[in-house]
Amino acid sequence: MSERKKENGFIVSLDSVKKVYSSGHNTLPVLLDVSLKITSGEILVITGESGCGKSTLLNLIGGLDDVTSGIITVDSWNVTSLGEEMLTKYRQNIIGYVFQFHYLLKDFTALENVMLPGYIRGVSRKEASDRAEYLLNLVHMEERLSHFPMELSGGERQRVTFARALMNDPKVILADEPTGNLDEWNSRNVEEILFSLTKEQEKTLILVSHDRFLAGKGDRHCILTKGMLVEE
Ligand SMILES: Nc1ncnc2c1ncn2[C@@H]1O[C@H](COP(=O)(O)OP(=O)(O)O)[C@@H](O)[C@H]1O
Ligand SMILES: [Mg+2]
Repeated sequence: MSERKKENGFIVSLDSVKKVYSSGHNTLPVLLDVSLKITSGEILVITGESGCGKSTLLNLIGGLDDVTSGIITVDSWNVTSLGEEMLTKYRQNIIGYVFQFHYLLKDFTALENVMLPGYIRGVSRKEASDRAEYLLNLVHMEERLSHFPMELSGGERQRVTFARALMNDPKVILADEPTGNLDEWNSRNVEEILFSLTKEQEKTLILVSHDRFLAGKGDRHCILTKGMLVEE
């Protein structure tokens, strides 16, 4: 099945994905029946009201949480059937994450933060450092290599986060409200970099946001509402 999907050019494929959170006797159905196909190189923007399940959906695609039922395939990895070890490989090699909160390590410089995913994956210090420098250049942070997160503006931190997401050359970038904490000017600046670099680096981007402004900014737009994904 995965072979066929690859031939068809779909890098991400969700088939009837359902997610119900449960604790004790309480159950909360969040995703009822979500199916989605994304072509390699596409930018998909998903908008929806706060609490509708956008982060839940991205976490499932990113292998950070388990589906209740349904199948998720990314670059021919059946994410919904991977064991822990393969899941770690998948998260390290296939996916780049950009979250609303930057999660940069405060005692590490911008350069070191970007190097870290490479380092963890086992590449040499020199290779990680060269690539981190190259990526920080791409996000126009070449003057800030040895700054610590505290010494950077919100927009600059998100640009470092984006460079970090690209460190292991992922196929798919998942961005969860990446500009949620930024002012208008910085939001537009970070979005512009995120979108243009995604194209330049031939990545696939799924960006979720409650901000309807972003609806027209990608190649495609879907709305998540009442547990279902509706294509605009
Ligand atoms: N780990 C969890 N356990 C239980 N409920 C959760 C969990 N994560 C999110 N939820 C609930 O699921 C719904 C969707 O949350 P979320 O995916 O974070 O929405 P969004 O990102 O669109 O704001 C919310 O009602 C939220 O409270
Ligand atoms: Mg969210």
